[in-house]
Amino acid sequence: MKGDAKVLAHLNEYLSYELTGHRQYLVHAAMCRNDGLQRMARIQEAYSAEETQHAARILDRILLLGGVAAPREFGPIAGGPTLAAQLARDHALVAGAIAHLRAAVGDCEACGDYVSRDLLTEMLDDEERHLHWLDTEMRLAAQLGEHNYLQSQMG
Ligand SMILES: [Fe+2]
Ligand SMILES: [Fe+2]
Repeated sequence: MKGDAKVLAHLNEYLSYELTGHRQYLVHAAMCRNDGLQRMARIQEAYSAEETQHAARILDRILLLGGVAAPREFGPIAGGPTLAAQLARDHALVAGAIAHLRAAVGDCEACGDYVSRDLLTEMLDDEERHLHWLDTEMRLAAQLGEHNYLQSQMG
């Protein structure tokens, strides 16, 4: 089965987001663990693991369509120096993924690849929930102040 070239390019681009997210959240989880922020470390670990599962599903789809798995590098993963910076970096990555997915879903639909469309729509749903969670955490951090917010992430 041969997939549309544009769809395959979108799948590879989203694979790049998944793998970057996996690595970035893993780094952030370790930094939180090291800083004693156990609650946030657990959440970041879960996000990192989730991206591995997503990447595997995207890879399967690329190969089923006869494509080549060719994720690009987004550059070195640099963990944010503070929890606020980590959340801001994750927010930027997820917002980028959402913008890409919205365009990709439309292109999958236009060329009749409904299975890729549905797969990427499911990914979009997850990314929107992730962005909402990041928005909520960033709002709480602003409302509570750094000291109280950090304390809330220790448990
Ligand atoms: Fe994902
Ligand atoms: Fe994600």
